[in-house]
Amino acid sequence: MDFFALAAERESCREYSSQPVELEKLTRCVEAAQMAPSACNSQPWHFTIVTGDKAKKLAKLVQGGGFNRFADQCSAFIVVNEEPAKLNPKLSGLVEQQKYASIDIGLATAHLCFAATSQGLSTCILGWFQESDIQELLDIPASKRIRLVITVGYAAPPHTPRKKSVSLWRNWSLMRNDVSQKHLVTALQGN
Ligand SMILES: Cc1cc2nc3c(=O)[nH]c(=O)nc-3n(C[C@H](O)[C@H](O)[C@H](O)COP(=O)(O)O)c2cc1C
Repeated sequence: MDFFALAAERESCREYSSQPVELEKLTRCVEAAQMAPSACNSQPWHFTIVTGDKAKKLAKLVQGGGFNRFADQCSAFIVVNEEPAKLNPKLSGLVEQQKYASIDIGLATAHLCFAATSQGLSTCILGWFQESDIQELLDIPASKRIRLVITVGYAAPPHTPRKKSVSLWRNWSLMRNDVSQKHLVTALQGN
């Protein structure tokens, strides 16, 4: 699929069918995530594919406070851990001034979600979850932070892209006369 079509197609899915997700497809998502760029190529991430009974239990651990109820419909999750970054010693002092690992994990997660979309799957990135309970469920040491949980499944009803690019262009034409949005206009013009 052309990248722009893929970008327009991906969106957060909060309604899943009961169709199980093939392990091969989930593995390909993780492979694509691991190809993402990272500061000093430090790759400060680890991905855990969760299906079956553990997925049913995991679904309950992203619903605190009544959020993310849709997770019960989802039969597969990918949990993203932050790993210690292996940085070039010459650069590590500089790099420590920035939280590059979070940026790297965001990029890898974008790769993962696009890989899912390109295989006909849908995703939702979850930043709201009970970290210590998930660490216990998945035997992840408490020292290894869980940064994101991603739901992966087949959308129900089948996904219809909402044509993001159209709204982007509509916003663009509105922004051109809106002084308060000048920074965005500048960014889009590349000046
Ligand atoms: C870091 C991060 C955390 C998020 N956490 C949640 C979440 O806990 N629950 C949820 O339903 N969506 C969550 N989202 C999805 C956003 O709500 C969604 O990406 C945003 O509304 C834009 O919609 P789109 O993904 O369909 O383009 C999260 C997204 C990101 C990037």
